[in-house]
Amino acid sequence: MRVARTIAATRGLVRRGGQPVVLVPTMGALHEGHAALIRRARRLAGPQGTVVVSVFVNPTQFGPKEDFSRYPRPIRADLKVCRENGADLVFRPEPTEMYAVDASARVDETSLSAHLCGASRPGHFGGVGTVVAKLFLIVQPQIAVFGEKDWQQLAIIRRLVRDLNFPVRIVGHPTVREADGLARSSRNAYLTPEERAVAPGIYAALTRAAAEPTAGRILRSAGRALAALPGARVDYVRLVDAETLEPATRLRRRTTLAAAVFLGRARLIDNVQIPPRA
Ligand code: PAJ
Repeated sequence: MRVARTIAATRGLVRRGGQPVVLVPTMGALHEGHAALIRRARRLAGPQGTVVVSVFVNPTQFGPKEDFSRYPRPIRADLKVCRENGADLVFRPEPTEMYAVDASARVDETSLSAHLCGASRPGHFGGVGTVVAKLFLIVQPQIAVFGEKDWQQLAIIRRLVRDLNFPVRIVGHPTVREADGLARSSRNAYLTPEERAVAPGIYAALTRAAAEPTAGRILRSAGRALAALPGARVDYVRLVDAETLEPATRLRRRTTLAAAVFLGRARLIDNVQIPPRA
């Protein structure tokens, strides 16, 4: 496995012999969720293809009061996860390598980004879209793998690829969970033992609500269960169209029940998919 710190080195190291180049963008602090994405990328690339993992805590997607500076950066452990799960190349640039001090061009998705996390984190998805577009242009992968845990992010990236004609196939990977249902997240490290004990209640609330028969009852059930979690503050809980992320009042199309909950210092997100019902 090679490690590149510059864009030029990355371009030089990516093999293009007709075999697929598969990219897994991450911000590091890698856990079993990221590891599953890297293994999926390895399978998609095949033995002759190239799996590239980017590890970059992207400053432009953090708000001024968010956790950019304290976001964990355990780089030795991250490189081990990459190596053990089949990465060929790790691209880990400094912010100065990725952004000129007077950088003024960005990639904004303007419809899906208005909902869910986009409403509580202004500018966040502009930062994500910009860095993902840059990574696509630097690595030029045939395939890129993203997690369904960040459902809105995945939907926005599919939209960017469609609308801007990026020659990349986007593969979504199911959410990897702890045994008690909590979605794996780098931000789980912020939880105290008490908060960690409450956290599985988020997924439990969403799955129980998803079994209700109507859109209205699903949303009310999830809202009530999340509000009852000790010490939790609900940022949002919404039932939306899985593709457009517009609020859904019926279950005729595939919908997504999504929530963001503050538990102490951590803001945790999760979602469940609800298949269309007649
Ligand atoms: P990060 O939070 O590090 O996540 C990197 C990728 O791992 C994303 O595609 C995310 O959806 C996926 N992932 C995280 N936890 C997961 C889990 N429990 N199960 C499955 N997949 C999981 O998302 C970002 O970084 C950034 O916004 C990025 C796309 C890298 C742009 O900076």
